[in-house]
Amino acid sequence: MIIDELRNGFSAALVAAFGPEIGEVDPQVVPASNPRFGDYQSNVALSLAKQLQQKPRAIAEQLIANVNLSYFCKPLEIAGAGFINITLKPAYLETQLSALQTDPRLGVEKAQHPQREVVDFSSPNIAKEMHVGHLRSTIIGDSIARILEFRGHDVLRLNHVGDWGTQFGMLIAYLREVYPTALTTADALDLGDLVALYKKAKARFDEDEEFREIARQEVVKLQAGAEDSLHGWRLLCEQSRREFQVIYDLLDVQLTERGESFYNPLLSAVIDDLTKQGLLEENAGAKCVFLEGFTNKEGEPLPLIVQKSDGGYNYATTDLAALRYRIQEDGAQRIVYVTDAGQANHFAQFFQVAKRAGWLPENVEIVHVPFGLVLGEDGKKIKTRSGETVRLKDLLAEAIARTRADLETRLTTEGREETEEFIANVSKVVGLSAVKYADLSQNRLTNYIFSYDKMLALQGNTAPYLLYAYVRVQGISRKGKIDFTQLGNSAQILLKEETELVLAKHILHLGEIIAEVERDLLPNRLCQYLYELSQKFNQFYDQCPVLQAEEPWRTSRLMLSDLTARTLKLGLFLLGIKVLERM
Ligand code: ARG
Repeated sequence: MIIDELRNGFSAALVAAFGPEIGEVDPQVVPASNPRFGDYQSNVALSLAKQLQQKPRAIAEQLIANVNLSYFCKPLEIAGAGFINITLKPAYLETQLSALQTDPRLGVEKAQHPQREVVDFSSPNIAKEMHVGHLRSTIIGDSIARILEFRGHDVLRLNHVGDWGTQFGMLIAYLREVYPTALTTADALDLGDLVALYKKAKARFDEDEEFREIARQEVVKLQAGAEDSLHGWRLLCEQSRREFQVIYDLLDVQLTERGESFYNPLLSAVIDDLTKQGLLEENAGAKCVFLEGFTNKEGEPLPLIVQKSDGGYNYATTDLAALRYRIQEDGAQRIVYVTDAGQANHFAQFFQVAKRAGWLPENVEIVHVPFGLVLGEDGKKIKTRSGETVRLKDLLAEAIARTRADLETRLTTEGREETEEFIANVSKVVGLSAVKYADLSQNRLTNYIFSYDKMLALQGNTAPYLLYAYVRVQGISRKGKIDFTQLGNSAQILLKEETELVLAKHILHLGEIIAEVERDLLPNRLCQYLYELSQKFNQFYDQCPVLQAEEPWRTSRLMLSDLTARTLKLGLFLLGIKVLERM
């Protein structure tokens, strides 16, 4: 990457100018905050002033005298108190870009040390509706997994489905009473029925002591492996699973299901080991670990319960068992959990217990990747008009339907005739992309307002805007009957106009952006990059003739257009978004 080359050049110059005593200094090379300062800048001279007992400008001058980067940078400039501005030579950009022509990775290097990465995402709950929080987790988790995969990591995409626990005792007990067929016959229910029954079972559980007892016995039976209970439980799971799969297919998301029940046989060992470590204490009949740094209202240490007084295990126990399994059996070197920010404490707490128990080897990193809420246009938690939780299936169908309506209007105004197949495909791709992109383009930590109008707009930081930029390039190829793959390997990209230079530089940044997203797990940076790429392309295209240009500019601009499209396609792929040739 260019930035690495600059860093190395600066590090070498620091040693050459100030001797090896200078030690390991971060050369502080970063992309320029403003194009007026060139392409990159470094503030290292300012930060060394104290150590070297010299004025920053003097340091900068000595540094520059020793920098050996003239083969690809214009003469370095000192600005203000001692900032160093770096501008790349157009000739260098031209060679770099021309090299991308034949590089399917578009300059994105593979990770030097590929890791085993577990991404725990989506993870809805059986017998409950998958909600917008799960949608966010699915979209963000998928994009993170795609980026890690592309960088060459060995990624395990895990769906930690909530398929175990006391709620199943409650549900089974209730179904035995009102609809036993559901426990013996496949397809007796759809998820809507199941969710409604679940709510009724819960209400019953909350108000009826006798029923609570029956439900508890059902849990014991299920956990002990009684065949008829297990059979019923499996049917319920399959029912939900089929519904979840509809969403995953629509969104084109791959996941390996490994639900909470998978870890059931490993739960008692968690308790045993915590006991051996001397971490386990009894609190009101429950087994727990007292946490450091977490207190209740009275300022007393907070317990993390890992075994309830009735002997049952909970969400935290399962997560501890899962963590151990993922490290020991899956060989995880990093585990990434994508859930709503509301679960931050849960993760911080069981992470702490795992660390104190010594279950976390030094080379293993565990990260919670939290995200904010999805709000309705009224700024409150998103609901349907009648106040119900929004079903994902309906939400996605609505996005597709609205895209279709917009498209049909546009076709009429433009007097275009298109086949039903075309209309259906464009509506589906654009509608789903819009939902994904609206989510990914926000900093995941903030809440965002779900607005069909905004996400489907053709202008602004939206999926349709980006898809259009891609389509525009394909339009050039159709109009000029150009086969981009046949432009010739000997042809050079030439950068003359300002908009060409700006676009070219942006294309060359992809690798840096991907490395950043990999580190910070913030896909919105990639969205921002692609949005700016589309804008820069549109500015270039508005100002520079392409098909009408004379050679060698024509070929060069065609190559630049094609590189833009390929960058868009790759970037969007990493967000889980497909491109269209026409729309
Ligand atoms: N099933 C949980 C929920 O719906 C999410 C699980 C996240 N993963 C985990 N390992 N805890 O909130």
